[in-house]
Amino acid sequence: MSLLISKGGFTMMVSKFSRKVFLFFILFPAAILSKEYKIAVIGTGYVGLVTGAGLAEIGHVVTCVDIDQKKIDQLRAGLIPIYEPGLDKLVEKNVLENRLFFTTDIAHTITHNDILFIAVGTPMSDDGQADMRYVYSVVESIAQYINGYKIIVTKSTVPVKTGKSIKKMLEETYHIDESIFAVVSNPEFLREGSAIQDFLFPDRIVIGSDNADAIAIMRDVYKNFSDNGSQIVTTNLETSELIKYAANASLAVKLSFLNEVANLCDRVGADANTVALGIGLDPRIGQHFLKQGPGYGGSCFPKDTQALVHIAALHGQSMDIIRAVIVANEYQKTIPVTKLKRLFCTRYRSDNLTGKKIAVLGLAFKANTDDIRYSPSITIIEQLLKAGASVNAYDPAAMENMRTMFPDIAYFSSAYDAIRDADAVIIATEWEEFKTLDFAYIKTIMQDYIIVDARNIINPEILVNSEFLCDTIGQSYLCQE
Ligand code: UDX
Ligand code: UDX
Repeated sequence: MSLLISKGGFTMMVSKFSRKVFLFFILFPAAILSKEYKIAVIGTGYVGLVTGAGLAEIGHVVTCVDIDQKKIDQLRAGLIPIYEPGLDKLVEKNVLENRLFFTTDIAHTITHNDILFIAVGTPMSDDGQADMRYVYSVVESIAQYINGYKIIVTKSTVPVKTGKSIKKMLEETYHIDESIFAVVSNPEFLREGSAIQDFLFPDRIVIGSDNADAIAIMRDVYKNFSDNGSQIVTTNLETSELIKYAANASLAVKLSFLNEVANLCDRVGADANTVALGIGLDPRIGQHFLKQGPGYGGSCFPKDTQALVHIAALHGQSMDIIRAVIVANEYQKTIPVTKLKRLFCTRYRSDNLTGKKIAVLGLAFKANTDDIRYSPSITIIEQLLKAGASVNAYDPAAMENMRTMFPDIAYFSSAYDAIRDADAVIIATEWEEFKTLDFAYIKTIMQDYIIVDARNIINPEILVNSEFLCDTIGQSYLCQE
C-alpha cells in the first residue's frame, strides 16, 4: 500500500515500508543536515547490520566489516543473511546512495574510519559469563592498525568494566598513547523483528565514556534523534554498560513474573490475560511485556541474565532475583510438553508419547525472526524426542537454522503439511499465520486432535467448539471440557 505525503507543497508517494523511514526525514529534516561521520561497524550480525544500515540512513558513511566472507559476499550481492523485516530495503537504499559498504578488510576499515563500533558476538560461555574473545580480537586489530584519533564504541552487550579493560589493554598491552583514542559504551536496545524501528525511533540513546570530547562527538552522531525528542543519556562507562544488563534483566523479571502468575491461573481457574490487563493498567506496572508464554529465548535475555549474575558474583553480590528468574524460565520451557502429556493422559489414560507424531508450529524464539538461539522450541523438541515421539516441524523463517540442531526431524513447507497425520500440535511461536489456521479442516487431517497453544494466540472457544482436546498457558479454564 502506498501513501501520499505532503509537507509545504512537497508530495511523495511512499511504499508502506519506507513510510516510517520517510516520515522520519519529512518530520525531522535535520536528519539530512547533521554532520557526516565516517563510521566502521565491526561485526555484521543481527545488531551490527541493523546498526550500520541505521547509521547510514541518518546520513553517515558506514563500512560494515566481518570475518565471515560468505556473509559479506551475500551482502555485496544485495542478499541479507538474516531475517529482519525491512532490513533489505534499508540496506539497498543506503548502498545505492553510497553510504553503506561491506568488506572483510579490517585493516582498511580501521585506518579509514574515525568511529569504530564493535558489534561482534559476545555469546554465553559454559559458566554463564560473556565470551569476550571476539571483542578482544577486534581490540587487538585496532591496536595493530590504528593510524590516528579513533573513537572506539562497544555496541555489543559487554560486561561492566569492559570499557576500562579495553582502555587498559590498548595503553598497557599494546602501548597505544591514550591521546589518540577514546572508549565509549553505546549499548543497543534493538528487538529482533522490530530492530529497524527500534533503531530509527529509539526510546533512549545511552552514551557512556570518561572522555567528554568523545561524548560530544557521539551526541553529534545521534543529533537527529535528540532533535526528535529521543532522550540521550550520557554517563560514565560502567553506568552505561550496567544500564544494558539492567534493562534486559528488568524485562526478563517482568515477563517471568507474569509467566509464574499464569501458571497459578491454570491451577486456580483464573485468566492470565485479564490478570495482565488488570495489573498493567497501573502505569507503575505498564501493559507491555505481560504476555505469558513458554519462556524467553533469544540471543540476549538468556545470556545477559547469566552474565549479570556472573559479573555481580565477581563483585561479591548474589543477584538472587535474577538467579530465580533463570531457574523459573528453564521450568517455563518445559510446560508445553508437560501440558501435552496431561492431555494424552486425559485421552488415553497414559502420557506415553512413544510412536506419537507431534507437530511443532514455530521454531524461532519469537515471531518475525529466524533466530533460534535459546528458543523454547529447542527444549520442546528435545523433550518430545526423549519421550519417544517423532516431530513434524514448521516455521516461516527459522527452519534452516533449526535443521542444523535437529537434522533428523521432519520439516514441512506449511503448517497444514506439518499437522497432517499428527496426533497432536504444539504452537510454540506466535507467528501471525498461525492465528488464522482452519481448525475444522485441521481436525479432518489429523490422527487425533490434541493441541497445546503455548502462545495463547488461538481463541480457546474455537478449539473447544471444534472438539479439540486443548490447553494453553494461563487460560486452562477455557479449555476444560
Ligand atoms: C551481538 C552480541 O552477541 C550481543 O551481545 C550484542 O548485544 C549484539 O551483538 P548479534 O549481532 O546477534 O549479537 O551477534 P551475531 O549475530 O553472532 O553477529 C556477530 C557477527 O560478528 C558475526 O557476523 C560474526 O561473523 C562477526 N564477527 C565475530 C567478526 O566480524 N569478527 C570476530 O572476530 C567475531
Ligand atoms: C530483547 C530486548 O527487548 C531488547 O531491548 C534488547 O536489545 C535485546 O533483547 P529480543 O530478545 O529481540 O530483544 O526480543 P523481545 O521482544 O524482547 O523478547 C524476548 C523474549 O521474551 C522472547 O523469547 C519473547 O517471546 C519473550 N516475550 C516477550 C514473552 O514471552 N512475552 C512478552 O510479553 C514479551
